[in-house]
Amino acid sequence: MDEAYHPGLEGVLAAETEISYLDVEQESILIRGYDLIELANHVTYLDVAYLLWHGDLPSEGERATLEQELAATQMLPNGILTILKALGPEVHTMDALRTGISALSAFDVEGGGGSGVEAADRQLISLWAKMPALLGESYRIKHALAPMQAGQGASYVERLLWQVTGRPPSALEIDVFDKLLTLYSEHEMPNSTFSARVIASTLSDVYGVLAGAAASLKGPLHGGANEAVMRMLLEEVVNPNAMAPYLKAKLQAKARIMGFGHRVYMHRPDPRAMMMKRLLGELVEAKGASVSKAHDLVAMCQIGEDVMRQEKGLFANLDYYAAPVYYLLGVPTELFTPIFFAARMAGLSAHIREQYGNNRLYRPRVRYVGARGRTLPPRE
Ligand SMILES: CC(C)(COP(=O)(O)OP(=O)(O)OC[C@H]1O[C@@H](n2cnc3c(N)ncnc32)[C@H](O)[C@@H]1OP(=O)(O)O)[C@@H](O)C(=O)NCCC(=O)NCCS
Repeated sequence: MDEAYHPGLEGVLAAETEISYLDVEQESILIRGYDLIELANHVTYLDVAYLLWHGDLPSEGERATLEQELAATQMLPNGILTILKALGPEVHTMDALRTGISALSAFDVEGGGGSGVEAADRQLISLWAKMPALLGESYRIKHALAPMQAGQGASYVERLLWQVTGRPPSALEIDVFDKLLTLYSEHEMPNSTFSARVIASTLSDVYGVLAGAAASLKGPLHGGANEAVMRMLLEEVVNPNAMAPYLKAKLQAKARIMGFGHRVYMHRPDPRAMMMKRLLGELVEAKGASVSKAHDLVAMCQIGEDVMRQEKGLFANLDYYAAPVYYLLGVPTELFTPIFFAARMAGLSAHIREQYGNNRLYRPRVRYVGARGRTLPPRE
């Protein structure tokens, strides 16, 4: 047995995949052979989702069929609304999402229910279709707001943005949001994808797999970082002049700054963050004057980037620039991480299918550093 131990599995190859790869040397994120940034600039989120699932970009007809499938199963069963209401106003929206995903297994009637590998494709589409309503209704129920449905005929991406802001989005907002979802759609083997593959390798059902992935993604070292960035900018720093002293004091105290660093490209730029920064600039230009603090946020982010590069040699990750983009789109902070999960449904689904299709149970060993040879005290 290989006795090498890598804490956090750093540098360990945990799967063979055709889905995606972080090509750090080339500063490229490969998605089924394409560059993610190129995809985000030229095709839509649903195109990329189809690519992740099927290996090729869709034809017009295939895209339209996927859009129809997502529309057909978008409604939440009443039982889920009852469960969300029972969670009360203190629930974290990621916990509501995780509970909703888990509870949906009991309402899996579309297409005849069933569990295991055979049912997975249908269940994944059905779950993904329900994300807009699940996110929107979780938030509205928590805040005692009236239920709402996006307009008839809205596309999947439009529906998701409409549900999380509570108002019909503009064409520019849909375009920026589509690109944001694409940038979040897949990223090789982060903790949540690994968690999903580990659970899927037992041939458990997709509800359990995705509930586990949602639990992983909630953590502030993973998906929860985008919310933490927004709280830092809006509640802790507040104005650009305070940004550099704030960060330096935090670093002095050996604290982590959310939105910086990454296990794979710790000292290299995250190409997604750079594209998100450009999208932030476009949004501010288009609607800056109408959103309070828009220009301050841009200034704070730039100062943060400069300070972190100088002080720690660290680069912003996607979550750093996604936070102000969400804010300018009118998304409540507590829905940032749930949206990350909804976007990542595309990549997670592809990984679950790949794991089921070529499965080997994950079951690693440990380096045992505990006691040996202890004897029980003699019986009375
Ligand atoms: C993502 C993350 C967990 C990866 O961590 P990791 O691979 O385990 O890296 P380590 O914890 O070994 O960190 C290596 C060094 O960089 C420093 N570092 C890493 N990220 C840092 C951050 N965000 N702020 C300050 N210092 C950081 C560590 O303190 C450590 O410094 P040291 O060698 O002087 O002790 C880490 O960068 C982090 O906590 N980032 C903030 C959370 C975040 O934005 N998450 C979203 C990721 S997409």
